[in-house]
Amino acid sequence: MDGKKIAVIGVGNMGAALLKGMLRRPWAKSENFTATDIDSSKLKSLSKEVGVKTTTDNRKAVAGADIIILSVKPQIIDIVLEEMKGELKTRQIIISIAAGVTTDYIQECIGKEMPIIRAMPNISALVDASATAISPGKHADKNHTKLAREILESVGTVVEVRETLMDSVTGLSGTGPMYVFLLVEGLSDAGVKVGLSRDISNALSVQTVLGSAKIMRETGWHPARLKDLVTSPGGTAISALHSLEKSGMKAMLIDAVETATKRSAELGKRPDKCEE
Ligand SMILES: NC(=O)c1ccc[n+]([C@@H]2O[C@H](COP(=O)([O-])OP(=O)(O)OC[C@H]3O[C@@H](n4cnc5c(N)ncnc54)[C@H](OP(=O)(O)O)[C@@H]3O)[C@@H](O)[C@H]2O)c1
Repeated sequence: MDGKKIAVIGVGNMGAALLKGMLRRPWAKSENFTATDIDSSKLKSLSKEVGVKTTTDNRKAVAGADIIILSVKPQIIDIVLEEMKGELKTRQIIISIAAGVTTDYIQECIGKEMPIIRAMPNISALVDASATAISPGKHADKNHTKLAREILESVGTVVEVRETLMDSVTGLSGTGPMYVFLLVEGLSDAGVKVGLSRDISNALSVQTVLGSAKIMRETGWHPARLKDLVTSPGGTAISALHSLEKSGMKAMLIDAVETATKRSAELGKRPDKCEE
């Protein structure tokens, strides 16, 4: 990363997770990072915790940066781009994690042909286990993409997809931790229903999800093969599977991912504010 200056614009849940993840890497030196936010109390505690420079002035942060990570909500991205566009130079790189917002839209707003990478991490970045996808915009070359990959690999795994698939990624893995949290909450409630204490039920549910994910990753086997492995004839798992199939569990998941994908596309349908 070679002493590159990185500005993180908006250090809410994801911006802070990315920033802290990068700071855990050997290449990261806190003096090379600037965090901005509208909320100065958030900046104060972040600066105390990780020792980065902070400012509520996005322009100032952008002016001194080589890499700009945009981690504000899609609903206010127009305001932030308008604010920073005067400071942007074509040698800089923008990485945007805003759901739905396209690289073409960002470029239109800033009015410069800049390297822009769209990325979709997830909240597991907090524990270096994000599943992230990236897509380079029109003016991002292989080196820009490599740099973005290196940054996002600080917090987990990274795949590259066509930008037209980024809403689908948002619906699947960007939103994905919520599906799993809900699943574990449901399992934990179920354990309580059948007589376990909340603590025991929660601990068993979390470990079950963790262990199942680990088997899938380590064997690389299709989940259907693993499902066959645990459904013995006349046993408990096949009875539970019958019940889940009657409730349409897979259809529910497909519906949820499709709905989140559509919502991501909606967030990307911007008012025509940035057109000349
Ligand atoms: N959360 C996720 O799981 C997730 C996953 C993947 C991608 N994303 C994307 O990540 C982005 C951030 O999401 P988030 O969940 O981290 O939201 P968030 O917690 O609301 O973080 C956004 C931060 O930006 C601050 N902010 C507001 N206006 C600003 C301005 N003009 N300049 C600088 N900072 C400003 C907000 O402050 P206030 O709170 O005071 O307004 C907040 O601290 C979104 O675009 C989202 O689509 C989120």
